[in-house]
Formats: sequence, structure tokens, C-alpha cells
Amino acid sequence: MDKTSFGYRAWFQPTGSFSTFSGGKYALFAEEEFQRGHVELFGEDKKGVSFEINKNLPAEGFSITGDATTAKVEGGCESGLLYGAYRLLFALRRGEQTFTINDKPAVPLRILNHWDNGDGSVERGYSGDSLFWRNGMVGYDLPRLRDYARLLASVGINQISVNNVNVRLLTAKLLTDEGLNDLEKVAEVFRPFGIKLLISVHFDSPVWLGGLKTSDPADPKVADFWNEAAARVYKRIPDLGGFLVKADSEFQSGPNAFGHTQDVGANVIARALKPHGGTLHWRCFIYNCLQDWRDTVTDRPKAAYDTFFPIDGKFDDNVILQVKYGPSDFQVREPNSPLLGAMKATRESLEFQIAQEYTGQQKDMYSWAVQWEEIFDQPFNETRATRDLVGKEIEAVVAVSNTGNDENWCGHLMSQSNLYAFGRMAWNPALTAKEVTEEWTSLTFGKSDIVADGVDSAVTKMLLDSRHVYEKYNAPLGICWMVYVHHHYGPSPDGYEYAKWGTYHRADHKAIGVDRTRKGTGYTAQYQPYVRDLYENLDTCPEEMVLYFHRLPYDYKLSDGRTMIQYIYDTHFEGVEGVEGFIRTWESLKSKLPDEAYAHVRKRLDMQLDNAKEWRDVINSYFYRKSNIGDEKGRRIYI
Ligand code: GCU
Repeated sequence: MDKTSFGYRAWFQPTGSFSTFSGGKYALFAEEEFQRGHVELFGEDKKGVSFEINKNLPAEGFSITGDATTAKVEGGCESGLLYGAYRLLFALRRGEQTFTINDKPAVPLRILNHWDNGDGSVERGYSGDSLFWRNGMVGYDLPRLRDYARLLASVGINQISVNNVNVRLLTAKLLTDEGLNDLEKVAEVFRPFGIKLLISVHFDSPVWLGGLKTSDPADPKVADFWNEAAARVYKRIPDLGGFLVKADSEFQSGPNAFGHTQDVGANVIARALKPHGGTLHWRCFIYNCLQDWRDTVTDRPKAAYDTFFPIDGKFDDNVILQVKYGPSDFQVREPNSPLLGAMKATRESLEFQIAQEYTGQQKDMYSWAVQWEEIFDQPFNETRATRDLVGKEIEAVVAVSNTGNDENWCGHLMSQSNLYAFGRMAWNPALTAKEVTEEWTSLTFGKSDIVADGVDSAVTKMLLDSRHVYEKYNAPLGICWMVYVHHHYGPSPDGYEYAKWGTYHRADHKAIGVDRTRKGTGYTAQYQPYVRDLYENLDTCPEEMVLYFHRLPYDYKLSDGRTMIQYIYDTHFEGVEGVEGFIRTWESLKSKLPDEAYAHVRKRLDMQLDNAKEWRDVINSYFYRKSNIGDEKGRRIYI
């Protein structure tokens, strides 16, 4: 593989040559990293730049002063220094000449969850196979893994889990000496980059690995198992971040099976981690995945709040509850989870997904950065946006990774922008999608050295438009889930309608949607009163997610005077036109782009166009057939 090729390239151009790798000596390591990056980016060593730890700076913070030849980088700790080194490289790459940069992360934990399986596959992975696992064992390409560590550290990510939250036997064995032999080596690769590992553990590990008859957290033998397991792990990896658990969720076992609430299950594991300084990340993605579609009372979005809010304050202080951004499941449009910020006596993290499970699977171009900015903008109450919770009620920002062993890491070259944006926005949620996207395009395509001027801004515009173009041809107005069951790519409006997963839109010939107000399922009552009222009132409910909260007739008038059905037709035609526009833009850049990059993205855009047309025609036909109301503009709908 030619590693200097564009396919392999991310915002750094890794060479894989870590021959002078010094480990341990961090000030030196930051300097080495800077010099290595400088050679790769500019072809020469940078003289005169100095690196120093300054304990007066915030822990992971840094400052950069001086100009391009005399720059001084100071870091509050080793990681801060490293972040400063990368930031200086980014600034130089973007043509900046003088520096007065002071920066520190908004949250102490910026975490990537890999959903990698022991057999090397990746759940919801669209970028090849695992970077960590092969044939049932930890297995990796060492230079490549170092490049990966560097890629993540360069955007401030400081913890990663290396195995799927759906833990199976192969990766459950990470708690055994045999599993730890390999994991120890992975930890060594990431350690100099300031990145700690987390292990996803199975709640039934006491049975699977410990030979016990039960995993009941109230059983003292189960507590002993966890204590021994934690001691074994920390002996080998003393700086492990902790464990991550998906319990009582989608066929995973958990404390419910033994008649306990979630705190009882979490605390027994947390107490085992506590003496070693470890944290337990406990996921809140709990709902009934065996719901009867005839049951119109149970409303899936209510489940996480109903499970966890009543036990606020019962979790040990080294437990962090990991809450998905929305109450459904990483949908294109959904309101923020009412659980975020609600539990005053329990630690919380916010979970995003960078993998494009429901957002085009890295075939369609999709900017998560735009959606994350919208998520941060959503109100928590009358005075605070969700963004304002980060660094306070929300102590960690987590995301499901979109990476794999594909040459370009992320399947779609453009999806690298999402990995980059995650790191940057977890570090600083006040950054806008425009800012981080501009950073990524200029770092990746350069301003003039690789391609002619204009490519970076044209690509920025494509990316910033991509989220809304995708949304236009997807399920309308926050209705969610009109995808094929299981693989989640492409339109299937009734795919989940008579299934067990609790995700129903209940469309008939007159109306669509579920009334989630207090007159309906009562879901809105879980929000702070200001937000509850905002969503309950049709005049103030954000229109783009009105069908998440309300059941409305097809001829319901939207604020611009259009009927809902006409809006659906219009947006679905516009979505396809948007993709055609992306193709025109990309074609116009052809002479300025490396052939490889041009061809790669062009191929993906063709796939996206097919997908968009399929969505348009299926959704429009579906709504026409339900409503019997035609398109005012007389466009082609398949009746
Ligand atoms: C989604 C996804 C699953 C995943 C789950 C989770 O439902 O489709 O593959 O396991 O989320 O977040 O645990």
C-alpha cells in the first residue's frame, strides 16, 4: 500500500515511520511528533520551536505564542503539550504566521467507542474491518495503529473502547490473562498519545468466565468475581479508563433479570473499579425491543428516562451514565433526550454516533457536525442550551466510531470530516459546524500545495449542505425509522411498523405520527417545563420535528402555508436535486483534484444519487397512496 496516496491521507499524511519513537519522555515526544508532522506536511524540520510543560496551565490545556519560526508551545501536562504540538501544525498548515492561542478542553473525557467484534467485523461499520481484532484475537498492524492513535490524539480524543458494546465470548475474554496479553500491547501504542483504553464487558462475565451459576449483582461471589477481574486488569494496564456496559438492552442481560434496578448492577462493577481509579460507563439505551405493535400505550422514547430518573442519586460516584443524544436511536432528526441534564445527583455523558448507521452508511455524504451543532443548540430549559451542560452536568462526550481498516480510515473520504469534527466539537462545543468543516477541508485538501484554490471552500459548502440534503429525501419532519429493518439503509416506510422494536408512526389514510404530548403518551412531560411546552404547542414546536411529537393530518398547514403532504413531495424532489448539485460541484473540481480522490468520491456520489432517488420515489408513492392527495406541481409519483 502506498501510504502517501490520497486514499490513505487524513488531515495528517502518516508515514508510519516511528523509528525515533521515544515513549515515556513526553516533552520530547511532543517535539518529535511536531517535527515528524512538519516533515510530512512541509517536507522539512522546523527549527526554533520550543516545547515546555507549564504546570500553571489547565491540565490538558496549552498555549502557543510567537511566530512561525520562534513559536513556543506550553502544555499543562504531557497531553496538553502534545495537543499544542498538533494545533501548531494545524495552524501552520492553514497558513497562520503568528500565534496567541490558549486552549483547554470543555470536558475531561472525549471518548470513542469502537463497536469491533472479535472476528474482525465491525457492528455498523462501513469502513472495512476492525483495526484491533482478527480471527478472534487482538491483531493489528503496528505502524497503522500508531498512525491511528496519532490521528485521534490530534483532535483531542483521550479514551477509546476497543470492543463492541454487544460483547460476545471472544471479546469478553479481555478480562482474562490471555486476553490481557494482547490488550496490554494495544495500551502501549496509545499511551504516549494520551489515550487510555476502556473495555466493554458483558454483564454475564461471572458466568461466562468465572464459572459461577449466576451474575446476580447481589450475590457476594459475583462481587468477588468483579473485584478479581478488575484487579487482574489493572495489574496489567494500570491506567485503564474503566469498563463500558450495555445491560438490559437489546437482548443483553442485566440487573433487571435478577429483579434489581440499574444502580444495583452498576455499583457492584463500579466498586470493583474504584480502588484502581477506574470509571464505569453504563449505557442508558434501554427499552422494550419485544414490544407488540398493537400496544399503543408503551412509547419507546419514554423508556430511558422512566428507567433511570427514579434512581437518580443511587449510583456510586465512579459511575457515568451514557445517554444517546436522542430518545430513539441516532436518527436523522429527533429531539434531545430528556435524560440529558435531568439527573442532578448522577454523572452523565452524551453519546453521539459518527458511524453513519441511519445517515447513509458512508455511501451517502453526511455531515454530522451540522447535526451536532443543532443538538447542542437545542434548549435544556428557558435559559440554557444543551451546549451549556457540557463540562457541567455532562462530563464526557462519547461517540461510536466510524473507522476501520479501509485505506482512508472512514470508508467515504468525506466521512473523515465527521471523525475530525467529533474530536474538535467534543473539545469545544462552541465551535460551529462551519468552523470545524473549514478546518478539515483546508487541512485535508490544503489551500494550494495539493490542489488549486477553491477546492476547500467548495467541499466545505458541500459538507455543510449534506445533512439537510440527506434529511430532505429521508423520513419527513422527525418521523424517524422509515428504513429497512436490521441493515438500516434505504427506504422502507412500514418496515418497522408491524415489528417488535417499538418504533411506530401509525400512518393511516388521514394522518401520521404519534401524539406524545401529555394528552397522548405523555412523553413530553419528561422535559423541563419550558421545553415541554415548546414541543407540545404546535405554534412553537420546531417544524422539522413536528411529527415526533404530534399526530397530524396530511393537509395540515405548515408555517409557510404549504400542506404537510406538499412539503413532503417538495423536499423529496429537492433532496435528489441536492445530490445532483453535489455531483456538478464535484465534476467542476475534477481538474484540481488528485485522480484518486476525484474518482473515489464521484463513485460514492453516484451511489448516493441512486439512494436518494429510491427514497424520493418510495416515500412520495407511500404518502400518495396513503393520502390520495396529488402533487400540486404534477411531478412523477408512482401510483
Ligand atoms: C442501535 C444499533 C445496534 C446497536 C445499538 C446500541 O440499535 O442498530 O447495532 O447495538 O444501537 O447502541 O447498542
